[in-house]
Amino acid sequence: MAERLKVHVDPDKCQGHARCKALAPELFELDEYGNAHEAGDGTVPPGLEEKAWLAKSNCPEIAIDVIEE
Ligand code: F3S
Repeated sequence: MAERLKVHVDPDKCQGHARCKALAPELFELDEYGNAHEAGDGTVPPGLEEKAWLAKSNCPEIAIDVIEE
């Protein structure tokens, strides 16, 4: 059974490095200050799971959580 993932950005940790947006533009949006938040409710569409994990592992601030539901 396919796992269902959600991404979440901790706004207290995010410093706007934007690697998440570069690596997984479908999963993250940037605000006017360049800080990221998850797109929609953070649900990762099928096929984008690898990008979710990639974004998490590439955030220098460790601001991204990937939650397995
Ligand atoms: Fe913020 Fe990390 Fe993305 S610092 S903009 S969540 S790469």
